Amino acid sequence: MANIRHIRKDYTLKVLIEKEISPNPLLQFSEWLNEAILAEVLEPTAMALSTVSSEGRPSSRIVLLKHATIEGFDFFTNQQSKKGKHLQNNSFASLLFFWPELERQVRIEGKVQMLSNEESDNYFDIRPEMSKIGAWASPQSSIIPNRKTLEDWFKEFEEIYHNKPIKRPPHWGGYRLVPELIEFWQGRVNRLHDRIEYTLHNGAWQLHRLAP
Ligand SMILES: Cc1cc2nc3c(=O)[nH]c(=O)nc-3n(C[C@H](O)[C@H](O)[C@H](O)COP(=O)(O)O)c2cc1C
Repeated sequence: MANIRHIRKDYTLKVLIEKEISPNPLLQFSEWLNEAILAEVLEPTAMALSTVSSEGRPSSRIVLLKHATIEGFDFFTNQQSKKGKHLQNNSFASLLFFWPELERQVRIEGKVQMLSNEESDNYFDIRPEMSKIGAWASPQSSIIPNRKTLEDWFKEFEEIYHNKPIKRPPHWGGYRLVPELIEFWQGRVNRLHDRIEYTLHNGAWQLHRLAP
């Protein structure tokens, strides 16, 4: 293995200071997301979603953010997957964005709720046809015998839905993480990074600086 001990980078691109940030972290987030998109980072909406099993065991995976508003952060998935099972038993979860090109990280914690059928339908309807078939064909996170089986299931559903509108599978849908804590991290020189954390108290966001 390569010697990774000496891999380190100094962060010098930007600063994060109180007088320049929004009092609302959701607005601040939308500004940073826009900047990530403008900077053409590879997957600006990719976020690590961490959930916890009923035995208290955490698990993380990447999902794509599909909608971010003042109410929360929406993503879509198979609700019978591992993350779906975790969220059914324990609705606390966290999200993490890392935009290395901007030397930025955003950390979000809160509770997850299911989106309504209507909200899930609305997003399902705008997905490409092949992704819709994929949602029917893949029993996400179940053990399958081999790759060919999956491709056969895909073909079967392609035939079933040939020239027909593809409905959303009942087990596929959206979730919204409603944040209670959001931290913005901006890399700085000498590891003296900027960290601004917002926490929600009685419906109002409070802001403080954390030591790096
Ligand atoms: C860039 C990227 C984007 C992904 N987007 C999603 C997504 O939006 N929804 C989803 O269910 N899985 C997505 N995945 C796959 C998940 O990381 C994961 O493999 C899958 O959801 C099963 O996770 P689970 O077994 O923990 O439920 C994505 C993976 C990558 C690498």
